[in-house]
Amino acid sequence: MEFARTLELTKRKKADFLVLPYWKEAKKSVPAADYAKIESHLKPILKTGDFSGKEGETFIIYPEGLLETRVLLLGLGERKGITVERLRRAFAAATKFGMQKKLHAVNIVIPKIDTLSEDELVQGLVEGLLLPNYLFSQNRSESGQESGPTTLQSIGLIGISKAGLEKAEEVLTICEGVYFARDLVNGNADDVTPQFLAKVAKGVEKTLPGVHTTVFDKKRIEKEGMGLLLAVNRGSSLDPVMIISSYRGDPKSKEHTVLVGKGVTYDTGGLHLKPYGSMETMRGDMAGGAVVLAALKVAAELKLKVNLTVVVPSTENCIDARSFKPGDIYQSYSGKTVEIGNTDAEGRLILADALAYACDHLKPTRIIDIATLTGAMEIALGPEGIGLMSTDDALSEKILAAGDKTFERVVRFPLFEEYLENLKSDLADLKNIGGRPGGAIIAGVFLKSFVQNIPWAHLDIAPIEYFSEVRRYHPKCGTGIGVRLMVEFLQSISIR
Ligand code: BES
Ligand code: ZN
Ligand code: ZN
Repeated sequence: MEFARTLELTKRKKADFLVLPYWKEAKKSVPAADYAKIESHLKPILKTGDFSGKEGETFIIYPEGLLETRVLLLGLGERKGITVERLRRAFAAATKFGMQKKLHAVNIVIPKIDTLSEDELVQGLVEGLLLPNYLFSQNRSESGQESGPTTLQSIGLIGISKAGLEKAEEVLTICEGVYFARDLVNGNADDVTPQFLAKVAKGVEKTLPGVHTTVFDKKRIEKEGMGLLLAVNRGSSLDPVMIISSYRGDPKSKEHTVLVGKGVTYDTGGLHLKPYGSMETMRGDMAGGAVVLAALKVAAELKLKVNLTVVVPSTENCIDARSFKPGDIYQSYSGKTVEIGNTDAEGRLILADALAYACDHLKPTRIIDIATLTGAMEIALGPEGIGLMSTDDALSEKILAAGDKTFERVVRFPLFEEYLENLKSDLADLKNIGGRPGGAIIAGVFLKSFVQNIPWAHLDIAPIEYFSEVRRYHPKCGTGIGVRLMVEFLQSISIR
């Protein structure tokens, strides 16, 4: 993707189409910037009232004598109450149009908006353009690819300042992180294996100075005594890994943020096999791992002033004669023993070992885990929210604020002590399930018992990691939601 900056409409370069944003007013649409020089081409249509300017509305015209063969009128809705999120939704319509028509170059006139800062305006506009500008076409034959849509390759931004262009470049870096996470979710589970995730993490180390990656193989995992990760791994023909990648962007500071991402590359449920209809999207059960790796990559690319380590415990949860067994008891890295009530509650098991290890060895000053952890959270929030549980109010506030800013909205759930009663086992220190009511919180409470006294937050992204339909500016399948949230969080704690 390339951006070009022009201050004046008349100085723009050639493109496949030109986008002119309009506000919706009582009976008509009004230009959101100054197009006087080309409006004579548009008068006939604007007079008809066929285009009202409502949010996301598009109207295509084929004018004579302009640099572009197509002009797309784009509705922003009412001027009053315009927000960054409304800009995302409106500008996504321009990208969807270009992709469907297989166009590659677009010119966009930046709307004039007094109520938003230039940074906010550029964030909304560029995220709206870039988030839908994604295709995962690896699985289509060449002829299939030819018949489908294509992506935009260059965007001319007309009327943007130098600082605005810098912000656009930053948004591009972040959106490329979102694509990176989507690619990992969308890839076949037989390709995106624990070993592949390790290779990807090593790749990030190679391309970005300041990033260091260590990968624990099965032998090391055994030596460390990560009995829960090993238990989940028993049914898989592939070894488990534990990826530990660090970026030190603020060497003078003792602050150290650790992000732990669930890396189950396929979740069959294990011996408690998932039924028909529940397993088909489970190649995405490593989305948490994908999000934290993407966040690390973006943090290093943007040279954020943060010290960050991401930890990804990774394995398949499969079926085999050697599979870990319901009723059996396994010892965790922390020493606590866990009775397996359900082999499908595997995420909390591998995270428990990763969290306890991180607390012991990485000296975190805050620790956040991100996981496609429970169907219960999906039931609670539907595809509009991320569930948060935390032991720390200040940390929660920061995550909630990042959620509002990115519209990757976060909702906090309680961690009442009483929920722990659900996890009592007659035979071991804990059981890994505790009944259906409050299921998402019970999973959170399970994780909490493996975290030492360090500000900790748990994000359950099961509701939004994978969409079976296009939703607003999110594509089908892997959404990459969580990446913008984490990067915004890291930006908010980095000294600027
Ligand atoms: N990976 C699933 C959770 C999930 C569900 C992710 C839907 C994305 C979409 C997790 O490992 C799981 O199976 N959880 C069980 C826990 C239960 C057995 C206590 C669940 O939620 O059903
Ligand atoms: Zn499961
Ligand atoms: Zn799972």
